[in-house]
Amino acid sequence: MASQERIIVLGGDGFCGWPTSLRLSREGYDVVIVDNLSRRKIDVELGCQSLTPIRPIERRLRTWQELTGRTIGFHNLNIAEDYHELEQLIEAVRPKAIVHFAEQRAAPYSMKSPRHKRYTVDNNINGTHNVLCAIVESGLDVHLVHLGTMGVYGYGTAGMSIPEGYLTVKVDIDGVDREIEIPYPPHPGSIYHMTKTLDALLFYYYNKNDDVRITDLHQGVVWGTNTEETLLHPDLINRFDWEGDYGTVLNRFLVEAAVGHPLTVHGTGGQTRAFIHIRDTVRCISLAIQHPPARKERVKIFNQATETHRVRDLAALVARLTGAEIRHYINPRNEAPDNELVIHNEQFLELGLNPITLSEGLLQEVIEVAARYRDRVDQSKIIADSRWRADIPLDREGRGLQTLSPITQTVNGH
Ligand SMILES: NC(=O)c1ccc[n+]([C@@H]2O[C@H](COP(=O)([O-])OP(=O)(O)OC[C@H]3O[C@@H](n4cnc5c(N)ncnc54)[C@H](O)[C@@H]3O)[C@@H](O)[C@H]2O)c1
Repeated sequence: MASQERIIVLGGDGFCGWPTSLRLSREGYDVVIVDNLSRRKIDVELGCQSLTPIRPIERRLRTWQELTGRTIGFHNLNIAEDYHELEQLIEAVRPKAIVHFAEQRAAPYSMKSPRHKRYTVDNNINGTHNVLCAIVESGLDVHLVHLGTMGVYGYGTAGMSIPEGYLTVKVDIDGVDREIEIPYPPHPGSIYHMTKTLDALLFYYYNKNDDVRITDLHQGVVWGTNTEETLLHPDLINRFDWEGDYGTVLNRFLVEAAVGHPLTVHGTGGQTRAFIHIRDTVRCISLAIQHPPARKERVKIFNQATETHRVRDLAALVARLTGAEIRHYINPRNEAPDNELVIHNEQFLELGLNPITLSEGLLQEVIEVAARYRDRVDQSKIIADSRWRADIPLDREGRGLQTLSPITQTVNGH
């Protein structure tokens, strides 16, 4: 890599964006973060905070500079609104790549109310479109690396293994069978997931019309918290979401166990999801930057996930490691009670990714982080109260989800 190559990281103050920014800086790129700090403001709105005490962005960056001698720039811009500033920044920085994390990323938050639905659509679609439009207007050949989600495929796989973005289908053209490749049919399961499928159409268009080089990473649920770089100093600690709207499964279970709350399994727990450890997220993004699509190549799509697990199996594993109780709640989502999920992810493996899988050692590391900061958890925020439809019942006080008491279960002999 040429030492002066520059990367703009949109959403670089967030859970995936912060450790990625540090890794890219350490690899020798000149990194510029753009973030409007909206995720920190959503914490205030929801009345909760990251499990880990995250420092203000200015202090994070100062500490990184003091420790490594490397400077990371920061611009407080709303990419969904501040179009001209974004375009000027791209023209001034002339980045090799832009990594785009800057979206509202919680499915339950996107389903909370009409305001949250509209915010998620406005923020995510305008943001992605502004970035694409600004790249074209800048006249520069910038590789856009976007964080999408495995959820764009839906979770019902019709018995097949989910390909990396494109599906080979047989069609009858004038009586002759032909094989063609089409984008995998979008199947969003929430307003948030819908924005990711709409992002994909924007990518398709700008790639076709303007030859923008684009990599779309269909990422699984991220677990873990620390990377080599965030462990260098307490000021660099990564955020850790645990509450009902933003806490993703597994990290949420590990915090619930640490504070002595039953593990909150939604429905039967028969949902299967794809997972990736935060350290692999960071590695995959670095690999994607190093292997851009060729000019005029179609949008490159990777499945950025290393394994799949059923939610109830994860709950049982965490319960076994911690002695926690498992409790089932009404599923707030409008989805099948059980699903199979088999995925292709060969492209990153071929580029040299050596996946971190769900080892007990790494789970213990997260359990220790959760135990260290458990006093920061407000237990009244653990149960989700977002629902996919108004006819999904809440508890008697109209706040959290109802417990499904008949299938409440305890493990470990408690
Ligand atoms: N965390 C996961 O498990 C996961 C899984 C799959 C995909 N992803 C995707 O990865 C990306 C990053 O996720 P995350 O977990 O780091 O989320 P996050 O909320 O922690 O980070 C997103 C960052 O973007 C910023 N942001 C949002 N809208 C912005 C705007 N309009 N202008 C400028 N900054 C803005 C936020 O302030 C925040 O710092 C998201 O696009 C998400 O969909 C995450």
